[in-house]
Amino acid sequence: MKKQAPKIAFIGAGNMANCIIQGLISNDFSPQDIIATRRQTKLLSELAEQGVQVTENNIDSIQQADIVVLGVKPFQIDSLVCKLKAVLLEKKPLLISLAVGVPVQQIDQHLKGQLAIVRLMPNLPIQVKRGVSIIHVNKTTSSEHRQTIQTIFSPISQLFWVEKENLIDLCASLAGSGPAYFYYFMEGLIEGACYLGIPEDMAKKMVLETAAGSLLLLEKKQEKISTLRKNVTSPGGTTEAALNAFKLHNFHASIRKSLEAAVIRAEKLSQSLM
Ligand SMILES: NC(=O)c1ccc[n+]([C@@H]2O[C@H](COP(=O)([O-])OP(=O)(O)OC[C@H]3O[C@@H](n4cnc5c(N)ncnc54)[C@H](OP(=O)(O)O)[C@@H]3O)[C@@H](O)[C@H]2O)c1
Repeated sequence: MKKQAPKIAFIGAGNMANCIIQGLISNDFSPQDIIATRRQTKLLSELAEQGVQVTENNIDSIQQADIVVLGVKPFQIDSLVCKLKAVLLEKKPLLISLAVGVPVQQIDQHLKGQLAIVRLMPNLPIQVKRGVSIIHVNKTTSSEHRQTIQTIFSPISQLFWVEKENLIDLCASLAGSGPAYFYYFMEGLIEGACYLGIPEDMAKKMVLETAAGSLLLLEKKQEKISTLRKNVTSPGGTTEAALNAFKLHNFHASIRKSLEAAVIRAEKLSQSLM
């Protein structure tokens, strides 16, 4: 990655941009090739200490960059792109938007279809190089641009390219919010364990190790998830008793309803931006 890496400007280096930057740096992407902007630059001091160029000057950053990542909130996208339109049209970087619920077309209309625009929906584990990113591109995006995205983002996240843009919001309800679901389930297990009388520290360590071990086993064995589940579920045994209690409370139906709730919320947020 160190050889002739493109220069990337993160316009709006908040939480999500930071996760990506940390993933890139841990994958040996040189911090000197990263520019991070926000209005309160004092909040970028940790990035500056890592060697990232920090500034509040969006225009100057774009002038230096091959790739521009828009990391501002969805409601800020339109006004920001309008302000930066001239320099974007002059420099024509590969433009990546992280904004949830903002269609590519909404950004494209400001830029007259002249820029390659990529909608990238990463999730938080991208900072530890185990992210999931869903990607949709506009018509101006070339195969060379796609290759650039592949080279930069595939070492830090598994990439899912989607032709239909609405799949981004559907997948975001799974992968984008997913870490929170797993953490919530773990919180429930720890709470349940404490209720049974297991000390909290011990319960936490056991839950983390059981989650990590179960995932590793799944990755190593390459078997169906249901097969591994059945392997630990002896008929009439304790695991079966626990799983039956899950079923009694419609656990899977409740998960489906939760995913639907996330999608409905994404649609509402998206409409409020129109
Ligand atoms: N968090 C997630 O899990 C997640 C997942 C996928 C996608 N996203 C998307 O990622 C984007 C950022 O979300 P976030 O959670 O990272 O929000 P955030 O932490 O609030 O980051 C937004 C950043 O934009 C900066 N900003 C605002 N206006 C600016 C301007 N004119 N010039 C330069 N910087 C500006 C803000 O800093 P100042 O106020 O100091 O300028 C702030 O640091 C959103 O569009 C969101 O939809 C988030």
